[in-house]
Amino acid sequence: MTDKTQNPPSRFDREQGDINTTRNRERYWQRNLSARARSVFERDRKYFLHQNLSTPVMNVLSGASGIYIRDLDGRQYMDMHGNGVHNAGFNHPEIIRAVKEQLDTGMTFCPRRYTNEKAVDLAETLAGITPDGLEKSLFCPGGSEAVEMAVTLAKQITGHFKTISFWDSFHGAGFAAASVGGEALFKRGMGPMMPGAMHVEFPNYYRNPWGFDSPEQVDEACLHQIKTILERQPGVAAVIGEPVSATPVVPSASYWEQVKELCRQYGALLIFDEIIEGFGRTGKMFACEHFTTPDILVLGKSLGGGLLPFAGLVTRPEFDRLEHISIGHYTHEKNSLCAAAALAEIDCIHSENLVENAGRTGTHAMERLNQIKDKHPLIGNIAGLGLHIGIDLVRDPETKERALQEAEIIMYKAMEKGLAFKLIEGNIITLRPALTISIEEMDQAIDIIDNTISEVERGAGY
Ligand SMILES: Cc1ncc(COP(=O)(O)O)c(C=O)c1O
Repeated sequence: MTDKTQNPPSRFDREQGDINTTRNRERYWQRNLSARARSVFERDRKYFLHQNLSTPVMNVLSGASGIYIRDLDGRQYMDMHGNGVHNAGFNHPEIIRAVKEQLDTGMTFCPRRYTNEKAVDLAETLAGITPDGLEKSLFCPGGSEAVEMAVTLAKQITGHFKTISFWDSFHGAGFAAASVGGEALFKRGMGPMMPGAMHVEFPNYYRNPWGFDSPEQVDEACLHQIKTILERQPGVAAVIGEPVSATPVVPSASYWEQVKELCRQYGALLIFDEIIEGFGRTGKMFACEHFTTPDILVLGKSLGGGLLPFAGLVTRPEFDRLEHISIGHYTHEKNSLCAAAALAEIDCIHSENLVENAGRTGTHAMERLNQIKDKHPLIGNIAGLGLHIGIDLVRDPETKERALQEAEIIMYKAMEKGLAFKLIEGNIITLRPALTISIEEMDQAIDIIDNTISEVERGAGY
């Protein structure tokens, strides 16, 4: 096993998630992998390329349902991460039924140059549920590709090639997606990335380089960065961001309204990446409904119903004028199975009132977390919107030093108590459960977090 203690991972290695090369990870494996699990784990390690974050893996799974994932030994974990695909819950029976039914029709893969009813139904449905003015769709297999299509569309529509996006953001692993992403992990050692991809600070009211406490000051400083680039580096095609950052940081509505106005003034488009936040997560069907309507809305993850890979963009009809080129000529562009899964997912979100549940359960979770914050010196900040919540763990509330070791210990201990979550930036516990979660289940999760933080505050190690 790799011993990285000579060269400890930096904050930038941990930006996207908890990493798989630490001593605590080794201990987790030693304690939790049965002989059976270990044999799959070792074969995985032998035959997959190793990479930060994903291989070697945490554990071996045998199934998932609703808000839970299950390991090979039958232990169940409430999954607060789900890679963002599980808005309707894992393996929702209605989504499985819809995909099976579609399989039986014989209309499954749809070669390019043809269309099919399910793909058209999906594009029509998205035109109906996305904010006014967004009507035309384009689909592809994954989120990274959808971001690339959005960047291509913005370049072609504006005739500009530069982009402004945010430090610390993740938009996928493809070349343009990683270029607009703000994480070193996807760019280090890659040489020049996409020309003209520039980055600015996200309006983080808790951690910002200026040490400002007031949201107005932070907004002003961040808007100033965008305005400066637009003024001095003309030719920006798009500002690209998640409406709420992954950590999460929830900007003011006025911040995004002003960004949109700047885009309008300087001939750039506003692209929102709602690959995580779309489909109810923030307590609205789309997160942009809290802020402002973008020119291009990028969707993914849950769009595939948690079963199939599917993503895409929805944009304004007046941008439908690029017949002479290809923006995203993907093999699975109009895959009927993926479209059937997406339509079933959207039906579940409506019929089970998942948007409302995300708002209600999220508000309850925020209240409870703010209560426990008072007794935990380790909790520096709680932020969130709907079921998109982050707990920022600090060593010292004054300096806000990130509690990297403590966060990792809390994560592995919580996992052993049946609660799985991901750390972002090394010290932020992120809670993004299936939107089907009940208030009682959310309370159970918060109890585990509360107790585990107490143990670590009392000096427990892992
Ligand atoms: C905000 C965001 N954008 C883009 C992506 C990339 O999506 P995919 O992994 O489907 O390529 C992700 C994936 O985690 C994401 O979280």
